[in-house]
Amino acid sequence: MLSMVGATALLLSASTLQAAESHTFAVSQGGFQLDGKPFRIVSGEIHYARVPRAYWRTRLRMAKAMGLNAITTYVFWNIHEPSPGVYDFSGDADVAEFIREAQQEGLYVILRPGPYACAEWEFGGFPAWLLKDHSMVVRSSDPKFLAASRAWLLRLGKELAPLQIGNGGPIIMVQVENEYGSYGSDHGYMEAIHHDLVDAGFTKAQFYTADGPEQVPNGSLPELPAAINFGPGDAQKGFATFRKLRPGGPFMVGEYWDGWFDHWGAPHASTDAKQQADELDWVLKQGYSISIYMFHGGTSFGWMNGANSNGKNYEPDVTSYDYDAALDESGHPTPKYYLFRDVIAKDTGITPPPVPAAPPVIAVPSFTLLQSASLWQTLPAPVHSADPLSMEDLDQAYGYILYRTRIAAPVSGELALDTLHDYAQVYVNGKLAGTIDRRLDQKTLPLQITSADAQLDILVENTGRVNYGHALPGERTGILGGVTLAGRPVTGWDIYPLPMRTPGKLPYTEKPCAGACFYRATFAVTKPGDTFLDTSALGKGEVWLNGRPLGRFWDIGPQKALYVPKSWLHEGLNEVIVFDLNGEPGRNLQGLDYSVLNAAVKKGS
Ligand code: GLA
Repeated sequence: MLSMVGATALLLSASTLQAAESHTFAVSQGGFQLDGKPFRIVSGEIHYARVPRAYWRTRLRMAKAMGLNAITTYVFWNIHEPSPGVYDFSGDADVAEFIREAQQEGLYVILRPGPYACAEWEFGGFPAWLLKDHSMVVRSSDPKFLAASRAWLLRLGKELAPLQIGNGGPIIMVQVENEYGSYGSDHGYMEAIHHDLVDAGFTKAQFYTADGPEQVPNGSLPELPAAINFGPGDAQKGFATFRKLRPGGPFMVGEYWDGWFDHWGAPHASTDAKQQADELDWVLKQGYSISIYMFHGGTSFGWMNGANSNGKNYEPDVTSYDYDAALDESGHPTPKYYLFRDVIAKDTGITPPPVPAAPPVIAVPSFTLLQSASLWQTLPAPVHSADPLSMEDLDQAYGYILYRTRIAAPVSGELALDTLHDYAQVYVNGKLAGTIDRRLDQKTLPLQITSADAQLDILVENTGRVNYGHALPGERTGILGGVTLAGRPVTGWDIYPLPMRTPGKLPYTEKPCAGACFYRATFAVTKPGDTFLDTSALGKGEVWLNGRPLGRFWDIGPQKALYVPKSWLHEGLNEVIVFDLNGEPGRNLQGLDYSVLNAAVKKGS
C-alpha cells in the first residue's frame, strides 16, 4: 500500500495510515458494521468527472468539514471507454486517484459503477458507440449489451477493486446498477450485473441496490441490502413503505435529493434548506444511514449533460449541475451547507473540522470576439449515403452533424424529419429557413423552394442523450430515419460529421462572420481564479476554453454564465472559442464573479 501512494504517504497522518490496512464492512443485525462495530454512514455525493482534478481535494475537505464520513460517486462508463476496448483513466478521468484522495482526507467511499448511472449525465453514462449496433438493447439482458458491459466492469475492477475496504482502501459499499426498479423488472439482468461485479473483484466491500421506495421489489436483489432514494418531504413515507418490504433493515437513504437540476427553457430549481435540514435531522435521529445527493453537484462540462424523457417529451439539461446542493458549483458553502453541518454535528456528536476558505472568484473585464471562421467554409469531407445516417453510424459521439442534399425543382410543402435528435437548423441555398426542436415536439418545417437545383442543409445538434426513462435504447442522434419534402422522400445525402474536437485549429480571420460560425478571442488574466463566463450575448452553441470544451449556452435560459475553474485558466493569455448557431460579429464576453443560473426563461421558443 505504501508503494501505491508513494511519497505522499510520508505526509499522511497516523489515522489515515491505519485506514490503509485491511478492514471489514458488512451488514449485521439490521445495520452496518465496520470492523464488527455499528457504523452509521453519513455520506454525500460528488462526481469526480464534474469537478476538475485540481479541485478534488478541496471539495473532499469541504465534505469532511460538513461532517460527512463518506462520499458517494458514480463511475461514468462513457468517459473511460470512448471507443470499444480503448480505456482512459488519465487526468480528470483518474477515478482511482479521486478515491485515494478521499481516503487521504479521512472519507470512506460508496462506489456506484453502474454500468448505468442516470445522474443527468449524457446517456446515463453509457458510451454512444453502444448504439452503433441497431439491434443492441442497452440496459437489458441482451447478450450483446451484457458482453460490452461485462468487459467494461472487468476493466474497472482492475482499477478500483484494490481500493475496497477489505484490501485497505476506502470503498465500503458498491451499488449494483442504479434504480433499475424504475425501469424494468428483469431480475436476470440485475443478477447478471451483480455477477459481473463479483467477477470484477468487488467482493471486499458490501454490495447493495438503490431504488425509489415503491420500486424496491423490482430493482433489488433478495440477497443484498436495499437503499431507498427520495426527495424533500418523503422520508417518513419512504421508510414506512420500505419497512413493510424489508422489516429487518438495514435502513439507508441511497440518495436524499437536496436540490434538483435544470432544463433548458424551464425555470431554475431550488429547494427549502430549512425543511431539508429538519428532514435530515429526522433521518439521523432514527439511526439510519444516508447519502446526500448531491453534496456538491459541479458541472457537466462540455457535451456531458443528459436529458429527461417520458417517451414522448424531451427535456435537455443545462451545463451547470449546481443542483442547489450544499456546496455550490464553484465550491462555496451555501446556507444549506451550514444547516446540514449543524444537524450532523448535533446528531452524531462529532465536531467536524473547521470549514476551509472557499476558492476565490474573479471577474474578467469584457473582451470582444473579433476573429471568426464560418462553419460553411470549414466543413470536413462528407460521407455519401442515400438516406440519412446517425452520428453513431459514423462513429461520432457528440457535437453536430450536417446533412446536405440538392432539390431539383421548385417545391413548397412540409419538410418532415423522421426522427430528429435533437435540434436542427434548416437552410435553403445557404439561407436559414427555420428550426426544428425535439424539445418542443416539432418534426416538420414549412419550406418554399423557389429555385431549381436548390441546396438544402440540415444542421443538427446533439443537445444531450436521454439519461432517464424508456427512451434510452433509441437515443441515436442526428436524423434517424427518412426525410420527406411535400410528402416525397428526399434522398442522396452528403453527411458531414462535426464532432468539433479541435476548433482551435480552424483558420480564423478578422472578417466578420454571421450565422453558424466559430468565434475566437484571447483575454489576459493576471491572477487566475474561478470565474463565470457571461454568455448573455450569445445565441445557441458551445464554448471551449484553452482547448477544453467548457459547456453549452442557449439564449432561452435559465443558465447565462458558464463556470470556469481556476485550473483551466492560465496566467497571461487565454483562448476562448465559441461556436454559435446564431452568431453575429463583434460580441462581448466577460468573466463574472457570480453565477447566473436563474435568468428569465424564454418560453416556447
Ligand atoms: C435518481 C438517480 C440519480 C439522479 C436523481 C435526480 O435518483 O438515481 O442518478 O438522476 O434521480 O437527480
